[in-house]
Amino acid sequence: MLALVTGAAGFIGSHLVDRLLADGHEVIGVDDLSSGANVQPGVELWEMDVADPSLVEKAAVRRPEVICHLAAQVSVRVSVADPLRDARTNVVGTANVLEAARAAGSRKVVFTSSCAVYGVPDALPVPPDAELRPASPYAASKVSGEVYAEMYRALHRVDFTTLTLANVYGPRQTPEGEAGVISIFTDALLAGRPTRVYGDGTQTRDYVYVLDVVDAFARAAGERGGGLRLNVGTGAETTDRELHSLVAAAAGAPDDPEFAPPRLGDLPAMAVDPAATGDALGWEPRVALPEGLAATVAWARDRAAP
Ligand SMILES: NC(=O)c1ccc[n+]([C@@H]2O[C@H](COP(=O)([O-])OP(=O)(O)OC[C@H]3O[C@@H](n4cnc5c(N)ncnc54)[C@H](O)[C@@H]3O)[C@@H](O)[C@H]2O)c1
Repeated sequence: MLALVTGAAGFIGSHLVDRLLADGHEVIGVDDLSSGANVQPGVELWEMDVADPSLVEKAAVRRPEVICHLAAQVSVRVSVADPLRDARTNVVGTANVLEAARAAGSRKVVFTSSCAVYGVPDALPVPPDAELRPASPYAASKVSGEVYAEMYRALHRVDFTTLTLANVYGPRQTPEGEAGVISIFTDALLAGRPTRVYGDGTQTRDYVYVLDVVDAFARAAGERGGGLRLNVGTGAETTDRELHSLVAAAAGAPDDPEFAPPRLGDLPAMAVDPAATGDALGWEPRVALPEGLAATVAWARDRAAP
């Protein structure tokens, strides 16, 4: 099939391009290269803003069967500082991608949401039908994208699956994204620089390996999971302090972080329940955190080598 991947040069998008090409699909990538720099061999790149209306015309000519929409302004902090910039890419951009799918007669859009939409949930791990409580412009923009995708299914019969990602980590990740702490710890520990844990180290996140995440996208791009929002995470919480120990072990570095006051707006705990994703897509996370961290540190070590 012909797949269009927005955010194709980004951390997750570039791995998804690799996976779709390996599965024998043809891939068009859309990316303005504002943060992503991973243009994979074999992808046809449309270098453009995802909110550019000419995307609709271009898609109508090439008619991708599926659009995986990952392009986004990905930083919660940037979204708080500049909510209009966030909304232009994440809200207007998503409306534009859905319009492109309608014009192209695409079968489905796989929309990328974030566990940030759950805010401070009532219980962990959060099920996919939990109340959405966005606590930042970024989270609000993702909720908006989810609602737009549902609306396009009802109005124009473009099917969707929303994948609500936990904290994704792995090779090619950058410090800006939601699992940026792994990248920050890794780079500092490999360079022998000090590391910092904010708060008392008990804040938790659900870390899911990037190749497991693209497996969920590849499955959702098929016939299953239509009309659903599905969690893509492990369901397990890892504290910041535990994470530091695991990255230090993978890097062969001392496990001795500094502690700094908690940062305003950081959510105390997160993990998402992937059980329904297993039922809908036959998906489950396969890569354990120590194994994934070993691969991530090996990649960072190679990149840092002279
Ligand atoms: N990394 C995580 O832990 C995580 C967690 C939850 C959700 N997500 C979501 O997954 C998706 C991919 O995130 P990522 O971690 O790979 O981040 P990333 O920054 O590596 O990838 C985003 C890509 O989108 C591109 N882009 C940004 N603005 C654009 C625009 N206006 N027009 C065209 N391209 C644009 C960037 O150049 C980049 O290549 C995003 O939608 C993000 O919100 C990521």
